[in-house]
Amino acid sequence: MRKVGILTGGGDAPGLNAVLRAFVKRAVGQLGWEVHGVRDAFDGLLSTPKAVQPLRPRDCRGWLHRGGTALGTTNRGDPFAWHRGGGVVDRSEEVVQAVEALGLEGLVCIGGDGTQAIAWRLMSERGVPVVGVPKTIDNDIAATELTFGFQSAIDVATDALDRLHTTAESHDRVMVLEVMGRDAGHIALTAGIAGGADVVLIPEIPYSPEKVASKVHKRRAVGRPFSIVVVAEGAVPREDADRTDAERTARTRAAGGAAHRLSEALQPLVGGEIRVVVLGHLQRGGRPVPFDRVLATRFGVHAVDLVESGAWGRMVCLRDGRVADVGLDQVATGARGVDPHGELVRVARSVGVEFGG
Ligand code: F6P
Repeated sequence: MRKVGILTGGGDAPGLNAVLRAFVKRAVGQLGWEVHGVRDAFDGLLSTPKAVQPLRPRDCRGWLHRGGTALGTTNRGDPFAWHRGGGVVDRSEEVVQAVEALGLEGLVCIGGDGTQAIAWRLMSERGVPVVGVPKTIDNDIAATELTFGFQSAIDVATDALDRLHTTAESHDRVMVLEVMGRDAGHIALTAGIAGGADVVLIPEIPYSPEKVASKVHKRRAVGRPFSIVVVAEGAVPREDADRTDAERTARTRAAGGAAHRLSEALQPLVGGEIRVVVLGHLQRGGRPVPFDRVLATRFGVHAVDLVESGAWGRMVCLRDGRVADVGLDQVATGARGVDPHGELVRVARSVGVEFGG
């Protein structure tokens, strides 16, 4: 009988449980395999005793629409660089031993680029067979055109913008909504278009506060005394454009985050009242929208197909709208950002959205 382990790594995203459910329903319920869920990413293979649990279809009841991950996760547990007593140790060999001791044929690793990079190292350097399933609400994994969780995050951010519109309009205020997206502005751009934002600031287009202020003034001049600004957490003011990532992050953090930094720069330029809302982890929590449930289910089923055909070392992906797969060696190519000259930016500009760049 085939026996595989499955884990979720990195930050959670709506749809993780739907992948687990689909994998278990197909692999255990239909093919008769044994599937063992590993708790808290790779940590479950390093703990004593090992934190693994058999997963059967009945264990996954209600998981299709449940947010988070029933297996738990962490974005700190890299077995190759394990933090212990102020230092870093390589515990990857312990993962190999755990996989052997548990009799697992391989590991299915659901996670973002960090998790996929660890998975690939486990296979290429330690010989552990792995299959990857991509996940991030940021939708910035280069090897797949879409990840589950993204549409759910857009839903939350768009709802927030709808709500901010009515209160902004009532008080003639500038409302600044900060959304997630450390390296890429997909959430800010897509939610900005869906929520009718006047200004969208993304990491890919360094912004000048003066341009944002000019948009606010133009709106006031035509009888629209309020403005809605969406800013990605990784948005970069032009004055920081030539700084390193670490310097930019430190400067934005010192200002209290991207939205507060913008607000401070904007206040003397526009006067009036500015209010800041940081959406934070509300974007990651809660139920996946139907689109993400379907995508997660497709990904889970394809992961079974990969294991069944012995296609270890592959990651599930979406290509031209179809579920496909890609070599894990090609996954770690950096974040897939918004194309500043792409169709979506052009569409946004065409309906009057200001990017500040
Ligand atoms: O990678 C997804 C993401 O949502 C980023 O946009 C954000 O910066 C990060 O996770 C925050 O994660 P955490 O608070 O869990 O470290």
